[in-house]
Amino acid sequence: MFDTTKIDSFKKRIMITGGAGFIGSHCCRYFVNKYPDYLIVNFDALTYAGNLGNLRDIETKDNYCFVLGDIRKSEEVSRIFERYKITDVIHLAAESHVDRSIKNPNVFVETNVLGTLNLLNVAKEFWKEDYSKHRFHHVSTDEVYGSLSENEHPFKETNKYMPHSPYSASKASSDHFVRAFHDTYGLNVTISNCSNNYGPNQFPEKLIPLVINNILNSKEIPVYGNGLNIRDWLYVEDHTSAIDLIFHEGINGETYNVGGHNEKTNLDIINDLIDLTLEVNKKTLKNVILKPRINFIQDRLGHDKRYAIDNTKIKALGWKPANSYKKNLEKTVRWYFKNQKWLEDVTNKEYQNYYKTMYKNGE
Ligand code: NAD
Ligand code: DAU
Repeated sequence: MFDTTKIDSFKKRIMITGGAGFIGSHCCRYFVNKYPDYLIVNFDALTYAGNLGNLRDIETKDNYCFVLGDIRKSEEVSRIFERYKITDVIHLAAESHVDRSIKNPNVFVETNVLGTLNLLNVAKEFWKEDYSKHRFHHVSTDEVYGSLSENEHPFKETNKYMPHSPYSASKASSDHFVRAFHDTYGLNVTISNCSNNYGPNQFPEKLIPLVINNILNSKEIPVYGNGLNIRDWLYVEDHTSAIDLIFHEGINGETYNVGGHNEKTNLDIINDLIDLTLEVNKKTLKNVILKPRINFIQDRLGHDKRYAIDNTKIKALGWKPANSYKKNLEKTVRWYFKNQKWLEDVTNKEYQNYYKTMYKNGE
C-alpha cells in the first residue's frame, strides 16, 4: 500500500488512466523513470486488456502506485483524486479494439464517452481554484478523421471528424467532450490523435501481435478483405515521448496528430513479420516453425481503407520518432519470442473463445 503521507513531496501527482494496457504501461514506465519527482498513479479497471504483468519492472518504485478503479464510476475517480491530491491526468483508458466495437458497441460508449465525461467532471471540480495549474491530456486516435483514399493528403489537425466504426465514433465523441470542457469551463486540455502503435505488451487481438502469436503456434494468418488497407505504424515508445512533449509543452486547448510517417499495407506488414519471425527463430533455434499460411477472410464491416498522419505540427513542437521501422519491428518480434510466457498467459480461455467467435475457424 502506498504511503500517502509522502504525497506532498511530489512536484506533480499524475493519474494515468489505462496504465495497465499496452500504451498505458509504456507511458507509466516512461514517466516513472524519467520523472522521479512526479508520482504516477496508474488507475485501471483491469479489463481483459489490462495486465499488471506489463509493469513488473516499475511496481516497486517509490514514485509509482496502482489503483484498481473504473472510470465509469465517478465516485471511484473522485476518491482517488482526493486521496492522491491528483494534479494532472493523462487519459488512456478505453475500449480500444475496432472488431469488438462492431460486435458490442455499448461498452464503447460507456467507457470511452461516459468514462471520459466522468473524469472531466471530477477534474473540473477538483481543480476549480486555478485550472491553469492542472493539465488534462487526452489520448485519442487518427480514426476519428475517417478514411483516406490512396492519393489524399494525410490527416491534419484541421481535418473534419468523420468516424466510421463504433470505436472511432466513441473516441470522436470523447474528443468533443474534452474540447467542450476547455471551451466552456476553461479546463487546461491537450489532445493527441495517434496512428497505429506497435511494440511489446500489445494484446494479441491487434494485427501485429496476433500475427506473431499465430506464427509461433503454427496457425494461419487471417487477413481481412484483400489485405491492401493501409495503416501508418508508430513504435509505442515514440508515442510515449510525444505524449510527454505535448503534456509539458503543448498549448492549452490544442490538438496534435502523431504518426510514424510509415505507411504499410497489411500484407506488407504481415510479410515483414513472417520474414523476421523465421529469421529470429533460425538464430535462436527455439521453436519448430513452418512458413505460415495466409488466409483471406471476410472483410471487416466498414473497414477504413487508409490512415496516414501529417506530423508537421508535433514536429514543430520538437518531436521526432527515435528509431527506424525495421529496427523496431525486429525488436518487437524478439520481445514476443523472449516473452512467450506472457503470450501464453494472455491467450487464455477467454482469448480462445474470443478468437473462435471472431474468426469462426477457431483452432
Ligand atoms: P488497451 O486496450 O491495450 O488498454 C486499455 C486499458 O484501459 C486496459 O488496461 C484496460 O484495463 C483499461 N480500461 C478499460 N476500460 C476501463 C475503465 N472503464 N476504467 C479504467 N480502465 C479501463 O489500449 P491501448 O491500445 O493501449 O490504447 C490506449 C489508448 O490509446 C486508448 O485510448 C486508445 O483509444 C488510444 N490509441 C491507441 C492506439 C493503438 O494503436 N493501440 C492508437 C491511437 C490511440
Ligand atoms: O489508427 C489507430 C488505431 O489503430 C487505434 O485507435 C486502435 O485502438 C487500434 O486498435 C488500431 O486500430 P486498427 O483497426 O487499425 O488496428 P488492428 O490491429 O485491429 O488492424 C490493423 C489492420 O489489420 C486493419 O486494416 C485490419 C487488419 N486486420 C486486423 C486483424 C486483427 C486483419 O486483416 N486481420 C486481423 O485479424
